[in-house]
Amino acid sequence: CGIVGYVGSQSALDVVMAGLKRLEYRGYDSAGVAVLADGGLAAAKKAGKLVNLEKELVDRPLPTGHTGIGHTRWATHGGPTDVNAHPHLDNAGRVSVVHNGIIENFAALRAELEERGHELASETDTEVVAHLLAEEFSATADLAEAMRLVCRRLEGAFTLVAVHADEPDVVVGARRNSPLVVGVGEGEAFLASDVAAFIAHTRSAIELGQDQVVELRRDGVTVTGFDGRDADVRSFHIDWDASAAEKGGYDYFMLKEIAEQPKAVADTLLGRIDAAGSLTLDEVRISASELREVDKVVIVACGTAFHAGLIAKYAIEHWTRIPCEVELASEFRYRDPILGPRSLVIAISQSGETMDTLMALRHAREQGSKVLAICNTNGSTIPRESDAVLYTHAGPEVAVASTKAFLTQLVACYLVALYLGQVRGTKWGDEISAVIRDLSHISGEVERVLETMEPVRALARSLAGKNTVLFLGRHVGYPVALEGALKLKELAYMHAEGFAAGELKHGPIALIEEDLPVVVVVPSPRGRSVIHDKIVSNIQEIRARGARTIVIAEEGDEAVVPYADHLIRIPATPTLLQPLVATVPLQVFACELATARGNEVDQPRNLAKSVTVE
Ligand code: G6P
Repeated sequence: CGIVGYVGSQSALDVVMAGLKRLEYRGYDSAGVAVLADGGLAAAKKAGKLVNLEKELVDRPLPTGHTGIGHTRWATHGGPTDVNAHPHLDNAGRVSVVHNGIIENFAALRAELEERGHELASETDTEVVAHLLAEEFSATADLAEAMRLVCRRLEGAFTLVAVHADEPDVVVGARRNSPLVVGVGEGEAFLASDVAAFIAHTRSAIELGQDQVVELRRDGVTVTGFDGRDADVRSFHIDWDASAAEKGGYDYFMLKEIAEQPKAVADTLLGRIDAAGSLTLDEVRISASELREVDKVVIVACGTAFHAGLIAKYAIEHWTRIPCEVELASEFRYRDPILGPRSLVIAISQSGETMDTLMALRHAREQGSKVLAICNTNGSTIPRESDAVLYTHAGPEVAVASTKAFLTQLVACYLVALYLGQVRGTKWGDEISAVIRDLSHISGEVERVLETMEPVRALARSLAGKNTVLFLGRHVGYPVALEGALKLKELAYMHAEGFAAGELKHGPIALIEEDLPVVVVVPSPRGRSVIHDKIVSNIQEIRARGARTIVIAEEGDEAVVPYADHLIRIPATPTLLQPLVATVPLQVFACELATARGNEVDQPRNLAKSVTVE
């Protein structure tokens, strides 16, 4: 899941291990390193977290070398064992390779290698690459060329980084789909899945494109296509502040990221609302006339980003009257969706690398639809392959469970919805101007929520022994309930489910039993008061059956008071914007419950930050 490569004058092991630590947030279940030293190659790998590998390196130190690679693996083919961990070596122990992705034709390649006498030690698809590289290297004596030849034979999605003991000052990388970035220093060069791995050493980077091979030497890098032709190179300067990727005094990245939400929201709005209160989204390179032609919006995303999409649907349909569908990216392309040149597909992704979302957007473009990405990671694959992108400015999100990226995705979705409304001149003109005004001070409201979270933490701690928590909502509160439940699953490993409160009576109410905690997200009593009244009835229904009600309601909503065993107040906001404030207590709740249950907050078990396999 995380890859690091280094060639230079520093100790490769030190640079690679530090880089792997910076990539820990991506999620992984085993780790390994290889260095070239004294004319040979030495490697170490261990199942589990990096501390296991560190311990192994103390017990069995590797020789000091100046060229090395490392990897944190999130198991796909073969369980997370020492043997299956990367790097993988050929039989002679001269070539070493690490890999992200899935090589789909590995079984055929493996059979072919075994026929030629190779012995494969692991169950991984990666190991075949080490053996194929060894064969091609003995024919070409050129690792970059060997890599190109091998890549042309591989099917699937892969990013590979390799070293060979016979080319002691060279690291070679290849990229198809999952990300790989080059860092260029003085007399040294780096390769990594993202810039966080080498930001401490250099700010100068090169983004590798699809089907490219890079050869790293101390004095420079060479990029070609898999076909060997010189490739166009896109250099960029890393403007992230290194401290932004550090914990900054918090126990967990997640706590820091929750606290950063007011700023993330404000930054995402910055420069997009002008003094006259209208929107300027110049970066969305889809013309106003094309936007006026749109007859359908389809949102694709996964996980938390999908929940942002569900909320966006309410806003888009209400403000623009354009029909909007929201679909899990992993389901989208397999059901032959109806798309055309007038469909606008919005792909929402924090990382910009989620394979399911990428495949959905490729499918949409093949059907001739325009794709707009909402993304947090500059230069990542999803925005690169889209027609236009609206970046969220959440800064680096490190904790696996998404928080500040979610809030900024919501902001970006509102901006897109409002912009579509503005461009198309809908009948909601006055409401749109009012909402734009409300949005411009919403970050202060998020700040106020954060200041009142102590009772939520205390409540979470008191529920640490429970097995189940349910979440209910109506209207935009329904996706908020889904997000609250997802956070709890991810972090507290508890059974948690979100329901539309109106659906309760059609089945889920059978789950209610004495003292079962049920979180209810209550919409504003102003505006859509019908939904408010209905949800107050729903609270009474579950309470009558013994539920312990945890009610999230806006300040001044007195109707809920008699039925709330626990009341969490949030500032009054227009209904459609309420998710920006209502989600925050749910994030704090899940984070505190995870801590109380002794779970790892930033890297929950089995999860990865960016899932680059389908
Ligand atoms: C993974 C993460 C989730 C995230 C989802 C989509 O499953 O664990 O937290 O919501 O991917 O990620 P994306 O980067 O596309 O927003």
